[in-house]
Amino acid sequence: MLKLSLGLSSALSLFGLVKFLGYQSAPIQAVRFTLKPPAEYAEGSVTGVPEARAYIMRDAKGLYAISAICTHLGCTVNKAGENYECPCHGSKFNGGGYVLKGPATAPLDRVELSLSGDGKVVIDTSKKVAADARLVV
Ligand code: FES
Repeated sequence: MLKLSLGLSSALSLFGLVKFLGYQSAPIQAVRFTLKPPAEYAEGSVTGVPEARAYIMRDAKGLYAISAICTHLGCTVNKAGENYECPCHGSKFNGGGYVLKGPATAPLDRVELSLSGDGKVVIDTSKKVAADARLVV
């Protein structure tokens, strides 16, 4: 019985070691994407950027981007008319990303837009910006 117990214990330890050595970290997610030239985003338009999980808008002041990552638990919100809705737990955000209905309590993040060397819009979802920040182009 002792031999069986030791054998089982050794097998479990070996299994744990093999699992540990085979550990692979999660793939690194891209946060920076080069998009279209600014002229492609008309005033009043809302353009989804699924690869960045974001939306790009243009108003009279310039271009800006709202993250589509729900501030509740991170699901991707969908455009629903003028607003955004989260399919996971029902949070709703207005067109500016501010909460209309919980459980989310924080607005959608605004993320940085810039221009690439060849004049295209670049979105960096790792960089949060103020709600009034605009890329003036
Ligand atoms: S993750 Fe969006 S409401 Fe829960």
